[in-house]
Amino acid sequence: MGHTLKWGAPPPKRPYLRILQLLLLAGLFCFSLGIIQVTKTVREIAILSCEYNISTDELTSVRIYWQKDREMVLAVMSGKVQVWPKYENRTFTDITNNLSIVILALRLSDNGTYTCVIQKSERGSFRLEHLTSVMLLVRANFPVPTIAEVGNPSLNIKRINCSTSGGFPEPHLSWLENGTEVNAINTTVFQDPETELYTISSELDFNMTNNHSFVCLVKYGDLTVSQTFKWQIQPKLDDSPTNQSPLLTIIITVSLIGTFVIAAVIWQRLQACSKYYRAIITISIPASSNSISLVQHLSEVLA
Ligand SMILES: *[C@@H]1O[C@H](CO)[C@@H](O)[C@H](O)[C@H]1NC(C)=O
Ligand SMILES: *[C@@H]1O[C@H](CO)[C@@H](O)[C@H](O)[C@H]1NC(C)=O
Ligand SMILES: *[C@@H]1O[C@H](CO)[C@@H](O)[C@H](O)[C@H]1NC(C)=O
Ligand SMILES: *[C@@H]1O[C@H](CO)[C@@H](O)[C@H](O)[C@H]1NC(C)=O
Ligand SMILES: *[C@@H]1O[C@H](CO)[C@@H](O)[C@H](O)[C@H]1NC(C)=O
Ligand SMILES: *[C@@H]1O[C@H](CO)[C@@H](O)[C@H](O)[C@H]1NC(C)=O
Repeated sequence: MGHTLKWGAPPPKRPYLRILQLLLLAGLFCFSLGIIQVTKTVREIAILSCEYNISTDELTSVRIYWQKDREMVLAVMSGKVQVWPKYENRTFTDITNNLSIVILALRLSDNGTYTCVIQKSERGSFRLEHLTSVMLLVRANFPVPTIAEVGNPSLNIKRINCSTSGGFPEPHLSWLENGTEVNAINTTVFQDPETELYTISSELDFNMTNNHSFVCLVKYGDLTVSQTFKWQIQPKLDDSPTNQSPLLTIIITVSLIGTFVIAAVIWQRLQACSKYYRAIITISIPASSNSISLVQHLSEVLA
């Protein structure tokens, strides 16, 4: 890169004074006008306006700088667009629409104040033509946590898990019962290195023999989300079906055995009948002339 990008790059005599002047201007601008705020959610698209138009003819004689806090985002010099690595492949400028900058797939790190600087060529040097600042707020809200039962680590003890993900800043989780904090087991916080979004999860063990009402509270920044888990023992109702069940089992078993016996008897009868019919058929053909032999054979089969 043979090009060093400074705010007031050209004047070689007093570059620092130039920078100071620009910073002062930016500061004054922010104070006097109040910065425009654009609020977006992670992964959305932000369009930040420079509020300045140029004709396509002018494009070669102006320099457009989009800068965030103290880092470069995008520059247009001699009509050529340059995008800095952090914004590469997801940032472009819309020359026809107020020289806007368009940032796709917003990240939390995109939070900040963006300044658009227009410099115009005049007698061989560039001078400040226009300056605009836009504040971009990128939010990420945690969804309401979900609570799931995750098993029984020991007799009469149930384990539940509370989790939520996709929020920012770093969350803190607590379990409450009747307003007082109860001890959680391994609460884990994970931050996605790419999106910077957090995932939090925590487990809680409780005695199943008592009624409970737990609140899983997740705090992040000045916001909170929570979920309630209720555990209620059915009074007495539990016992009656268990007392009845052996009797029911006996009744079912007895009726099953009975059905089986009946089915077996019917089956036997059917078998006998088919034998009987077979006997009639086999016997009746050769004995068509002799009716006595047929009776004889039949009685044999039925015996
Ligand atoms: C460009 O900026 C002007 C002045 O702020 C505004 O009125 C206009 O709506 C903007 N145009 C677009 C297309 O956003
Ligand atoms: C720039 O041009 C657009 C579209 O032609 C127009 O809507 C907008 O008002 C202009 N902005 C300014 C600051 O003049
Ligand atoms: C941008 O896209 C090009 C082409 O797909 C790729 O080579 C480059 O690595 C990408 N840059 C970043 C910063 O992702
Ligand atoms: C929870 O902690 C126990 C030990 O206290 C460990 O064995 C288990 O792997 C942990 N579970 C998770 C999901 O981190
Ligand atoms: C659960 O609570 C009951 C009644 O309060 C108690 O008798 C029992 O010992 C408890 N069980 C465990 C595993 O703590
Ligand atoms: C548990 O909750 C149920 C349902 O609300 C209630 O009927 C029962 O009396 C409660 N048991 C105890 C021990 O509080």
